Amino acid sequence: MCRAGLAGSCHHRDRAKQAGSQMPILLDLFCKAGGAGMGYHLAGFDVVGVDIEPQPNYPFECVQADAIEYLIKDGKRFDAIHASPPCQAYSKAAKIMKRRHPDLIAKTRDAMPAGKPWVIENVEGSPLLNPITLCGYSFNLRTYRHRLFESSVKLKAPKHRYHDKRITKMGRPPKPGEMMHVIGNFSGVSAARIAMGIDWMTRNELREAIPPAYTKWIGKQVLGVLSQTPDETNGERRR
Ligand SMILES: C[S@@+](CC[C@H](N)C(=O)[O-])C[C@H]1O[C@@H](n2cnc3c(N)ncnc32)[C@H](O)[C@@H]1O
Repeated sequence: MCRAGLAGSCHHRDRAKQAGSQMPILLDLFCKAGGAGMGYHLAGFDVVGVDIEPQPNYPFECVQADAIEYLIKDGKRFDAIHASPPCQAYSKAAKIMKRRHPDLIAKTRDAMPAGKPWVIENVEGSPLLNPITLCGYSFNLRTYRHRLFESSVKLKAPKHRYHDKRITKMGRPPKPGEMMHVIGNFSGVSAARIAMGIDWMTRNELREAIPPAYTKWIGKQVLGVLSQTPDETNGERRR
């Protein structure tokens, strides 16, 4: 559940440490209802979300604030940072309609604190640098849902499986064996929850979420880097 808060008012990291948590803490920026956050939690992080809108279905602690202001002020308190800036600016529809949206990717990258592992996620066609691409089929999900991940640490992607399953036609629920495209006015919220591996979100939240399996995969790699001493990182942290 998201509480209203001014950027800079967060002391979750200190509170969690005081409460005896041994888990590293990840800041989940542009968190919405927590698809990304859940994956990091499953990997072994405590998670704190930030979103400009109230997020009543976010499963962890959450602050309502501007993500970039929050990152600049409080980012260095966290062990690792994930950001999912809104992707409308790079969507095919926005390009066709020539709609203008703020480009938050560069601003987010520039605000990342030096020395902390960070990840920025977005859609295909977005201006991420040297990203890996994750596909739901690699995680046995019922959606292909390609997403790109740029990081300050070197990330590996699982083998990309050939897309040999049909995608459900828009406007009707999936038939057995089909893959779902969870976008726009998709049909079948309960089928979409199964397809994405997310059981707590509404239709509006699902269509913007990334499957937790993706960030569980990435989170384990980030934890691996955090567990190395600086001498062992061999330049794996890029800044
Ligand atoms: C694509 S959704 C994130 C989805 C999420 N990563 C997930 O996996 O469920 C982007 C979110 O960014 C939020 N947002 C947009 N501008 C923002 C800003 N300046 N600061 C914080 N959040 C913002 C929106 O309210 C929206 O919830």
